[in-house]
Amino acid sequence: MISPKSIEEVISTARIEEVVDDFVNLKRRGSNFTGLCPFHDEKTPSFAVSPAKGIYKCFGCGKGGTALNFIMEHESMSYTEAIRYLANKYKIELEERSISQEDVEARQLSDSLYILNDFARQYYEDQLFNTDEGKSIGLSYFKERGYLESTIKSFGLGYAGGGKDDFTRKALQKQYKPEHLKLLGLTTKNDADFFRSRVMFSIHNLSGKVVAMAGRIMSQDKNQPKYINSPESEIYVKHKVLYGLYHAKASIRKEDECILVEGYTDVITLHQGGIQNVVASSGTALNKEQVKLIRRFTQNIKLIYDGDPAGINAALRGLDIILEEDMNIRLVLLPDREDPDSFFKKSGTEKFKSFLKENEKDFILFKADYLLQFAGNDPIKRVEVFKEIIQSIAKVADHMKRYTYINLCSNLMKMDEQILVAEVSKVMQHNQKARRIQENRDRIRAGKDALPDHITSSEGHEPGIVSMVSTQVRLSGDEYQERDLVRILICGGDKPYAHDNEITIGEYLISNIEDSLESFENKTYAAIFKYAMKVMSEKHIVKPNDFVNHPDAEISILAVDFMSSPYTLAKWEEKNIFLQTQKQPEENFQRDAYQAIMRFKLRKIARIIEQTQKNLESDQGMDEDEKKIELRVLIQMQKERNEIARMLNNVILQ
Ligand code: CTP
Ligand code: MN
Repeated sequence: MISPKSIEEVISTARIEEVVDDFVNLKRRGSNFTGLCPFHDEKTPSFAVSPAKGIYKCFGCGKGGTALNFIMEHESMSYTEAIRYLANKYKIELEERSISQEDVEARQLSDSLYILNDFARQYYEDQLFNTDEGKSIGLSYFKERGYLESTIKSFGLGYAGGGKDDFTRKALQKQYKPEHLKLLGLTTKNDADFFRSRVMFSIHNLSGKVVAMAGRIMSQDKNQPKYINSPESEIYVKHKVLYGLYHAKASIRKEDECILVEGYTDVITLHQGGIQNVVASSGTALNKEQVKLIRRFTQNIKLIYDGDPAGINAALRGLDIILEEDMNIRLVLLPDREDPDSFFKKSGTEKFKSFLKENEKDFILFKADYLLQFAGNDPIKRVEVFKEIIQSIAKVADHMKRYTYINLCSNLMKMDEQILVAEVSKVMQHNQKARRIQENRDRIRAGKDALPDHITSSEGHEPGIVSMVSTQVRLSGDEYQERDLVRILICGGDKPYAHDNEITIGEYLISNIEDSLESFENKTYAAIFKYAMKVMSEKHIVKPNDFVNHPDAEISILAVDFMSSPYTLAKWEEKNIFLQTQKQPEENFQRDAYQAIMRFKLRKIARIIEQTQKNLESDQGMDEDEKKIELRVLIQMQKERNEIARMLNNVILQ
């Protein structure tokens, strides 16, 4: 673990404009910088960096955050990885704390394994380019496939010669440990080389380290497997890796789509041909972990499969997993006997792209169509197909999308829409129940109490199909007020409330609402206020950066959004115009804070009035004295309300 002190040091040292500048071409604009957003495709810059605030914000796609967030997002790194990256950039020595001996050893082992794998990659690359056997067999094979030298190098391709233990001997000579060679499967238990007479492919993890290798046979020997792969190890968990993802991730994000193919060569050929958002599941069926990996970059998956029944069935198997992760799937079937690699070579980049465009199909509809075709008019088979399709639709997480599918499939399957709605609902309820049972099992296993029945799973309320019309997110009145208070706290909490006394805006706000925090409608907003109180008890003042750098992503993102409101954008872009016509928003924090508190109070009072009126009207079991008291409360409250409203002359009453 990195010590909090070191994390603090990294965060306070990193300069947003320097960190971003390594990836984006920034131009100065007044006291800020702008550039083309690296997170979406654009031709005119809407990406802004504010050194003063320490944040970036894209006004096109909405992404925003601190230097740390930028590295996490752009480089797909975890929090700690990003801290290490920045520490390295600024040559800050990190203080590591309270790591167990086991952690240290595990880390040292994986470090050694990465180094060894990289040595192997270099060795096989060297064999490919610098030995006679490598050149005449391996290199000529890759050249024949059309691979350029730069492609060969960037994908870590190589050649393993036919010798019995040439590689192993070389590695031992370089002091690599025999047990590590065996752990990685590079050397067999009989001390021979595992990869022999094969062209080599490196398999990278997300940060570009070689975690495994694959070797493709060169001879026609049908008794030997075409590809052999490294076994799983401390650094290689097969179902958590997608071939090509490291090379594809930037492009996947840019295109907002991930193309999924089957093989290594498909990935390399397409990538070299300019279609770079492509990854392979390497012959195995796609699994949940892999879909989650893709989901970090995009929600759109396009599957390209061979048009033969085996290819189609493989594709259909992957479907439900993808749907469950709320991904959109489209499918392209290639002409029979073609794989993406062979078909691309025949068609070239432009034709290939337009083929994809013209032939892509929505997956569920494809599935329905395809299965129905096989069922023909056989009623029993048709019922089975219906059930299968209903299962798939029930997996669609987004209810709007789900409804669309029901509508389309009811046409396709010639089935009444209401029946479909009911059936899908049934399956969803069943799935949800199963999920809850599983969740409770997990909780009990983890030594926690089971959840009561009415509490739904962590995935939250399933709105169901019926309620789909009115589920738009809307802030209730109270939440709206609360949000305004939070905005002022975050952006201006450190400013003085009045020039002639000592209190800050933060203190002013807190002293006014402290008692009401428990009844905040939005618990995150309440948590933000509580956090501010904690910070202020420690160092008196709470600054915007305390929120922006908050480890809870929800709070951090909220802070960034507030700090870069459209208001501020105007200022970023056209500094001077704004200045002449009105006061900078920052200078109005005092007025804003005052008004927000007044509105907040007004709303609370309005509630009390409403309740009191109801009590009086219903009249139930109230004696005259009680009525008098209620009436007095009412009059008092109405007075206060009018008083506040008068002060807030811009608030419209009822
Ligand atoms: N595969 C494997 N082991 C095998 C066969 C296939 O791991 N014995 C995986 C590989 O990831 C391979 C993918 O399945 O890339 C697709 O197999 P295939 O279409 O046979 O190979 P290609 O990648 O097309 O290889 P090539 O074009 O060189 O024949
Ligand atoms: Mn092929």
